[in-house]
Amino acid sequence: MKDDTIDALELLRSQHEEVESLIEEIEEADDPAAKEALFAEMADKLAAHSTIEEKILYPSVMIEKTRESLIEATEEHLSVKRLLADMMELAVDDEHFDAKLTVLKEQVRHHAHDEEEDQLFPQVRRMMNKDELAALGNEMLALFEMLIEREPRKRVPAETVEAAPLMM
Ligand SMILES: [Fe+2]
Ligand SMILES: [Fe+2]
Repeated sequence: MKDDTIDALELLRSQHEEVESLIEEIEEADDPAAKEALFAEMADKLAAHSTIEEKILYPSVMIEKTRESLIEATEEHLSVKRLLADMMELAVDDEHFDAKLTVLKEQVRHHAHDEEEDQLFPQVRRMMNKDELAALGNEMLALFEMLIEREPRKRVPAETVEAAPLMM
């Protein structure tokens, strides 16, 4: 059954890898049209990834012990969204676009690896069994697939006022 083959944390980890490799492709792109298309793809995937974490993962694992790091995670998402919103206003050949891309890359790397993969995910793995992680993975994948059809990057500028709330 496909139902118990998705692990929530593996799903998120593979999305981190995909976003990071797209960032590298944007850095290497010479043609402005190709660079713009890669940026749109990366921004959509990063926006949808952030939303499934904010709406499903984070509230599901909110306990006294994780509270502080989850609040920090939503602040990091906010910072990344502000960069994305700024970049959406810039031409891809503006030197500030490249500078913001460098900052975005550093922030995504820190958030995805140091905060989530190294700290939060091991905590989540101790809180949930295999079936629970599979159910969570299915739920997040379904929402991601729905969001990704709708150019989710376009909702990012509206999410730059404050960090996403942790309770549903
Ligand atoms: Fe995150
Ligand atoms: Fe993440």
